[in-house]
Amino acid sequence: MEVLPCLSVALDFVSFSRLFESQLEIAKIAEMIHTASLVHDDVIDASDTRRGKPSVNSLYGQRKAVMAGDYILSVASAMLARMRNEEVIVILCQVLSDLVQGEFMQLGSKENENERFAHYLRKSFKKTASLLAYSCKAVALLSGADDDLQEVAFQYGRNVGIAFQLLDDLLDFVASSNHMGKPTVIDLKMGLATAPVLFACEKFPELNPMIMRRFQEPGDVQKAFEFVHKSDGLEQTQFLARQHCDEAVRVISSLKPSIEQKALITITDKLLNRSK
Ligand code: IPE
Ligand code: MG
Ligand code: MG
Repeated sequence: MEVLPCLSVALDFVSFSRLFESQLEIAKIAEMIHTASLVHDDVIDASDTRRGKPSVNSLYGQRKAVMAGDYILSVASAMLARMRNEEVIVILCQVLSDLVQGEFMQLGSKENENERFAHYLRKSFKKTASLLAYSCKAVALLSGADDDLQEVAFQYGRNVGIAFQLLDDLLDFVASSNHMGKPTVIDLKMGLATAPVLFACEKFPELNPMIMRRFQEPGDVQKAFEFVHKSDGLEQTQFLARQHCDEAVRVISSLKPSIEQKALITITDKLLNRSK
């Protein structure tokens, strides 16, 4: 029987005999932080679907959704505290602070055109990649890795995380809501200038004033959408995501060959080829 590629990666992980209980705990905590961030993000984005189901805010209202997200974070924080490892606590608390800062950064846009892309990448690190980068670092630390190896783990997570957000921003322009299980073609309506738009600006500078007014004037969203499709903004976004994945693979090439290293490379392939 043919095993699904994703299942075979999972099986590789299960067979990893040196997985410590504490590392598994980090995986649970990271997943809970991620879930809470999505519950909160759907409130910020007024999104009514998530993973093909009604979002928490659409079912129970904004106030209960905010409190539900907070509750998940409080349980995750208690699990973290019970690990009694100050370094790990400090590392994962940075993620919580970055998530909030990332969402705040997304609310503002840079007036200076040259600063926009750097701002977007910093935002993407804080909102998305920080969780992956610091979770990888915490897991490395728990295995007794030295500072250099912790940095390898951190850089792998950082690059994968940024590539993930780039693909998310690309799919917002090309995938259907049904396929994604969440609203698409939503970023422009939310006033957000993501990588595809920022790249499209090079060919269509008319986009600059639209970015500044956050696509608020009638027709802005439609025009910007067309400019992106007429430019090579989508291809450039895919290319940048590929560069980050290549960098993630390069960083872990210093590790000795193993099934775990192979699985980490497979993750970058799956990420680049994902359609949802
Ligand atoms: C995702 O944010 C949530 C976080 C990373 C905190 P987005 O608004 O960019 O993504 P989707 O499209 O809702 O998943
Ligand atoms: Mg959002
Ligand atoms: Mg959202």
